[in-house]
Amino acid sequence: MKQYCYKTLVFCMLTGMAASVHPAPDADRQAELLYLLKHDCGSCHGMTRKGGLGPPLLPENLSDRPPQLMVNTVLDGRPGTPMPPWRGELSEQDAQWLVEAMLRGEGL
Ligand code: HEC
Repeated sequence: MKQYCYKTLVFCMLTGMAASVHPAPDADRQAELLYLLKHDCGSCHGMTRKGGLGPPLLPENLSDRPPQLMVNTVLDGRPGTPMPPWRGELSEQDAQWLVEAMLRGEGL
């Protein structure tokens, strides 16, 4: 039994590590995230991310922003502004991938 617990623990540690080294969502999830970016985020930031109620989210607008700050903005929103929190709908990995996708100008 002891042996079994130890193995389980090592397995969880390794899979946990693998998840943090390879945080990218799989291809299906990436397609869902791009759809969300266009339609849900797009309702405020524009379908082509040129801005609207929210500021533009094009690479040239975001390149000087600290990426982790944008990940936090996506997950927790900006209190006192219309930018809503997406935590619950989006995982940390999802938010990270979305920020990278915006910086690459993916899906435009
Ligand atoms: C209801 C409108 C609305 C929706 C929907 C929305 N945002 Fe925003 N967002 C805003 C507003 C307004 C701001 C500016 C907040 C401020 O004044 O600091 C903002 C700010 C941001 C910023 C910071 C930009 C910068 O220049 O620092 C990012 C990144 C962002 N939004 C990403 C997203 C993503 C990704 C989604 C979809 C998952 C999304 N937003 C959905 C309204 C929205």
